[in-house]
Amino acid sequence: MRQLLRRATRTLSTSTKPRLAALRETLARDAAPKPLPDAPENARSFFVETRGCQMNVADSEVVRTLLRGDGLREAESASTADVVLLNTCAIRDKAEQKVWTRLRDLRGRRGKEGQTVAVLGCMAERVRDDLFRDGLADVVVGPDAYRKLPAMLRDQGQSIDVTLDRSENYADVLPTRVEHTAHGAFVSIQRGCDNACSYCIVPYVRGRERSRSVQTILDEVASLYDSGVREITLLGQNVNSYHDATTESLKQQPREYSTGFVPFVKSDKKDSQTGVRFAELLERCAAAAPDARLRFTSPHPKDFPDDVLETIARVSNIAKQIHMPAQSGSDQMLRRMRRGYTCEAYRSLIERARSVIPDVALSSDFIAGFCGETHEDHLRTLRLIEDVGYDMAFLFAYSSREKTPAARRLEDDVPSDIKKKRLQELIDAFRTGREARSRERVGKIHLILVEGAPRRDRGADLVSGRDDGNRVHVFPSSLPDGSELTPGDFAHVLVDRAEGATLIGVALRRAAGAGDRPLVDAETGAEFFIDEQTGASRW
Ligand code: SAH
Ligand code: SF4
Ligand code: F3S
Repeated sequence: MRQLLRRATRTLSTSTKPRLAALRETLARDAAPKPLPDAPENARSFFVETRGCQMNVADSEVVRTLLRGDGLREAESASTADVVLLNTCAIRDKAEQKVWTRLRDLRGRRGKEGQTVAVLGCMAERVRDDLFRDGLADVVVGPDAYRKLPAMLRDQGQSIDVTLDRSENYADVLPTRVEHTAHGAFVSIQRGCDNACSYCIVPYVRGRERSRSVQTILDEVASLYDSGVREITLLGQNVNSYHDATTESLKQQPREYSTGFVPFVKSDKKDSQTGVRFAELLERCAAAAPDARLRFTSPHPKDFPDDVLETIARVSNIAKQIHMPAQSGSDQMLRRMRRGYTCEAYRSLIERARSVIPDVALSSDFIAGFCGETHEDHLRTLRLIEDVGYDMAFLFAYSSREKTPAARRLEDDVPSDIKKKRLQELIDAFRTGREARSRERVGKIHLILVEGAPRRDRGADLVSGRDDGNRVHVFPSSLPDGSELTPGDFAHVLVDRAEGATLIGVALRRAAGAGDRPLVDAETGAEFFIDEQTGASRW
């Protein structure tokens, strides 16, 4: 087997970077939305452009269904569409500036004469009728008002609806999916946010927390699975505070928070009721899509009680990966941010997660240069990043958002060059840690979902895919038994080396599904699997 690995990886030259970039580009092109055969050629056409987080991606899929249901047809590009819809993000000023630029572009040379421009999403909710300024937008619709969109577009005049609706969750609208990865799909399970992190605009633009009923989620998961989807990501702004009070729980457990966590805003209503909570939902979704990999994002650290961690560890097709947004490593900053935990509580949660879920991949979000952040505070964040060793991190410079508690009560006093410098230091610390984590992966077997069709490249047909931790692996598509891997297959891949964040290896065998993990020798920690033909343990 070692020889096979050597032979297979020898064909991959040592400097594969440009080829990896080309491969990634082709994979991205493969994942681009395909035109949908529906309304007649002469029907009014629309094109949706999506910015921001996965929630917006999922919402755009709902919008596409609503518009197609009203007889509109999907255009191939913004420049040819009768209606362009920009689904926007308001999380940082930079995100909004890009939308203003795009709007001016659409009204200028990049748009089509007489084109209707609709602004949707979080910036629509925040900026409201200012978007009509200079005739840049015709229609402005907030995240809870998409059902009104078809009628508003029919009217053809200027119109706005930014009503937030505490019960809207579009549970009955089957999203028209864009393939964001081959065989992957998002399922929105929860909307809104009841936390009040002082820096964050999300509670203002997305409204209060609400969860979709268990049954509608399970039906959608099962139908995605039947249609061949092999990776399902459950979505919500606070995905792990999921709570469906209308469905009877099989567990009857009261709400619990992560050990050592006291949430900033405590909801008595949610605390006092039973109903189905996140751990139970995870388990039921995993059972509804038995060979598919189940992920979730974006969670809050406060909602990882032991039963959630134990469910992730125990249920084999749930990815062993957790996003654990810390934001800062300084208690002073965490207090000002109103995160509701101390750095010590966060660190012990990380330890707990690592002890309950061996080899769990961890990621986080951090903000550099929040109000009043001292050099000492910054060093504490750096230390946290170094100590944890994240597989992935999203790092941002603080951007003050009007109306948030921080903008009203705290001073945005860290100069922008210092914010940038600190951000760069956080990025560097994260990259160093990630490289070390990648090196730890070398010589190990990983369960990979193959994502892109093979590309012939210098003597080998290369495919790429991701492991549980979302790390990208590249390896030849052929297996030792002579068969070929294709997108949607799971495979056991032995990693030969790390190139930056990408892992290069060789596929050893086809896996039966997301739950078919390599076995681990309890004494040595070495991975192995049982050869189907001989019954012997291999590797
Ligand atoms: N509900 C998600 C957050 C969504 S926003 C969660 O709590 O994880 C994604 C990330 O954007 C946040 O985690 C935070 O790191 C960052 N962010 C939010 N507001 C910001 C601001 N005003 N400036 C800079 N980064 C911000
Ligand atoms: Fe924003 Fe905090 Fe809510 Fe996340 S938990 S969306 S950071 S308010
Ligand atoms: Fe942006 Fe709205 Fe998501 S503000 S990050 S698109 S919830």
